[in-house]
Amino acid sequence: MKSLFYSRFFILLPWVLIVIIMIDIDTKRSSVRNTAHFYLSRLGSAQREVRTVQTSSATNRTVLPTIYAITPTYSRAVQKAELTRLANTFRQVPQFHWIVVEDSNARTELVSRFLARSGVQYTHLHIFTPRRFKRTGMPRATEQRNAALGWLRMHRSSKDNGVVFFADDDNTYSLELFEEMRSTRRVSVWPVGLVGGRRYERPLVEKGKVVGWYTGWRADRPFAIDMAGFAVNLQVILANPRALFKRRGAKPGMQESDFLKQITRVEDLEPKANNCTQVLVWHTRTEKVNLGNEPKRHQDSVFIEV
Ligand code: UGA
Ligand code: MN
Repeated sequence: MKSLFYSRFFILLPWVLIVIIMIDIDTKRSSVRNTAHFYLSRLGSAQREVRTVQTSSATNRTVLPTIYAITPTYSRAVQKAELTRLANTFRQVPQFHWIVVEDSNARTELVSRFLARSGVQYTHLHIFTPRRFKRTGMPRATEQRNAALGWLRMHRSSKDNGVVFFADDDNTYSLELFEEMRSTRRVSVWPVGLVGGRRYERPLVEKGKVVGWYTGWRADRPFAIDMAGFAVNLQVILANPRALFKRRGAKPGMQESDFLKQITRVEDLEPKANNCTQVLVWHTRTEKVNLGNEPKRHQDSVFIEV
């Protein structure tokens, strides 16, 4: 009896083991499938997720302050390429709201279509720079940045938790930069690469306070800093409703200083990027494209947006 039991047991054992192994393999496969499905569906629903964040309740907003990046932009051959580079960065920043202000009489088709497909939460505004201000030696994008500040003052309130940053369309932004600026309580500052005729400019910091500026250009500026070198808490923007970029008496390169003077003092600045010792943003400038061989007549048979 005992020997019969053992012989049956040893005949069945390999089959039982095979069945167990098969079941195990199958569950592993389906979990791989599920993981792949998870990532693919996330990719597909990136747009929807962005909307969810947008419509979700105030709780979400209080957890992570929204970064409002204000980008003035104007029509030119490289515009879509510049905006594409920006969107590829901004899409990866959580709780991000892009305020794009076109320097034009109306919203253009190119930018409207681009933003709708960008996967970034956005607001699309426009305001044309009067022709008399469109000259070399004149500050750029004054009206566009002010339009964005106006929008924030109209559409955001003391309940909203956010940080405002001026993101020109031709610069290069690291993802770390946004993590640094997110904790801005009033006005924060950090170094900017490739600007002012130097490899970088930066605020000089002693005992956690800004005490001066490392710059090669107009060191007498009260705030010797590029537009890409600071962020402002949304509540500071709302609490100073008259703080704007100025046309009257404004000189190029002085816009930042003239604006910051209205909302803060040097000693109150919050140094970021490891006491202003890391470059996380670059003032890159795209070279003017050569369109010398564009045909005057016999253009291509189809219209292609570039
Ligand atoms: C430097 C600063 O980095 C800018 O923040 C500042 O606005 C500018 O000087 C100035 O002189 O006012 P720079 O590289 O010389 O920047 O300027 P751009 O990058 O040509 O222009 C700054 C922003 O304004 C860009 O986002 C650009 O698309 C926009 N812009 C420029 C317009 O909306 N309209 C224009 O006619 C020109
Ligand atoms: Mn620029």
